[in-house]
Amino acid sequence: MKFLAINGSPHGDRGNTAILLDKVVDGLTAAGGSVEVVQLSKITVNPCIGCDCCHKTGKCPIPDNFEALKEQLLACDGFILASPNYIMSVSAQMKALFDRCCGLIHCLAMEGKYGVVVESSGGGGDDQVLNYMERVVGLLGAWSVGGVGSSMAGERLFPNQDQLFAKATALGGELYRAALEKKEYADQAGAKLALAAYMRGLVDFMKDFWHYEYEYWQRLGK
Ligand SMILES: Cc1cc2nc3c(=O)[nH]c(=O)nc-3n(C[C@H](O)[C@H](O)[C@H](O)COP(=O)(O)O)c2cc1C
Repeated sequence: MKFLAINGSPHGDRGNTAILLDKVVDGLTAAGGSVEVVQLSKITVNPCIGCDCCHKTGKCPIPDNFEALKEQLLACDGFILASPNYIMSVSAQMKALFDRCCGLIHCLAMEGKYGVVVESSGGGGDDQVLNYMERVVGLLGAWSVGGVGSSMAGERLFPNQDQLFAKATALGGELYRAALEKKEYADQAGAKLALAAYMRGLVDFMKDFWHYEYEYWQRLGK
């Protein structure tokens, strides 16, 4: 099974977030998953310009690496979103990716896939950032398997590190098993149905403009 890990830290694989992300990836590969790690710092995903082309045509016209990354997301069984806490939210690099995913969100295009979120911070606010990223996993249509995050306790050192790393590794294994077993989460099912009704209604309302998304939902027959 194929998994994609996306790290939004400008420090890439040398950063704190990458330490925790690596542990999740270790758990995922030990369970049998094949993982590709993408550092947003090494590719270009520019901010959304609000042109609505994704809604109208299904493609983003900004000439950068987003469309290729989108295809990787659509081809995976599960994914990991990792970001440092930047002012109680994700990094600008990760936020740019979220905004560029607006078309995927309207189509709930990641339905049937599974997501995990990873965060590191200087001094806390971890749950706020993790909850936000988990919401984005849900908005993409995917099941949220969980998250792991922590503040730092020094230079590249986490508090209760062994325990934290064990949690991260276990979460990687859980992501693999969730995707393998096509797990459904009863506590997310209601919100999933409500979101689908909302997105279908929104796209229907905009059907004279958002042709691609209207036809996408028509094809689904939902
Ligand atoms: C622009 C910026 C904003 C930050 N905002 C916060 C914050 O609001 N709360 C916090 O606890 N840490 C904050 N930090 C600290 C980072 O979250 C922390 O150092 C993190 O572990 C960096 O991960 P990285 O090495 O993967 O980039 C901020 C750091 C930067 C550079």
